[in-house]
Amino acid sequence: MQKTGKKAIVKEMFDGIAHRYDFLNHFLSLGIDNYWRKKALLHLKSFKNPYILDVASGTGDFAIAALKYNPSKIIGIDLSIEMLKKGDEKLLKKGLDRVIQLQPGDSENLAFENETFDAVTVAFGVRNFENLIQGLKEMNRVLRKGGRVIILEFSKPSSKFFRLLFNFYFFYILPLIGKLVSRHSKAYTYLPESVDTFPCGKDFLAIMNHSGFRSVSAQPLTWGIATIYTGVK
Ligand SMILES: C[S@@+](CC[C@H](N)C(=O)[O-])C[C@H]1O[C@@H](n2cnc3c(N)ncnc32)[C@H](O)[C@@H]1O
Repeated sequence: MQKTGKKAIVKEMFDGIAHRYDFLNHFLSLGIDNYWRKKALLHLKSFKNPYILDVASGTGDFAIAALKYNPSKIIGIDLSIEMLKKGDEKLLKKGLDRVIQLQPGDSENLAFENETFDAVTVAFGVRNFENLIQGLKEMNRVLRKGGRVIILEFSKPSSKFFRLLFNFYFFYILPLIGKLVSRHSKAYTYLPESVDTFPCGKDFLAIMNHSGFRSVSAQPLTWGIATIYTGVK
């Protein structure tokens, strides 16, 4: 896996914060991220024992939450070996390492045959892709016909007043706590900045369409702080 540009920066960043990632995730979101994950994965309920690919799986929380839908198997891929190591520790401890298999991989060049998976999931991953369209097209390629993509990502709150309040937290408080706890100088400044410049709502749906998905939909959560996007192949 040769990595250049944004990819190398993102990999280094997540390798650097892996030891504190889970704690900070739940602490900084006051645990709401778990509710968002559960809500997003409701879109798996029509599948019987789905074979799932969890892209940008990190420490595996989205994959673990997907177990509720009795998957035949979940493969989780990620660029960051340190994030995967933390995930593997969790899976071993919980005895889940047979159903969920974490492995290194690049979302923009997936090492799977065409039409392999019933569902492809990504939580808080697409924003970090170096080439978003290439990543989405790859996800489409490995999905079976009729298969579903479920994407959970940060978005921008639509209410001006709430956005002001939220941005104060997101741009000033969160980076401070993130830096103190993770000891990484840039990761928690990158987070709000990357959300600010990333397409959301209708703009993101247009990109999904362009990447080959149909019946795309967006469901904002918690005043639009995050959004669930779904699409069908
Ligand atoms: C914010 S974390 C999300 C982890 C996990 N999905 C979760 O919900 O907690 C983003 C992850 O995306 C991974 N990532 C970024 N670009 C990637 C790419 N091109 N291919 C695979 N993983 C990537 C990072 O290494 C990181 O682990």
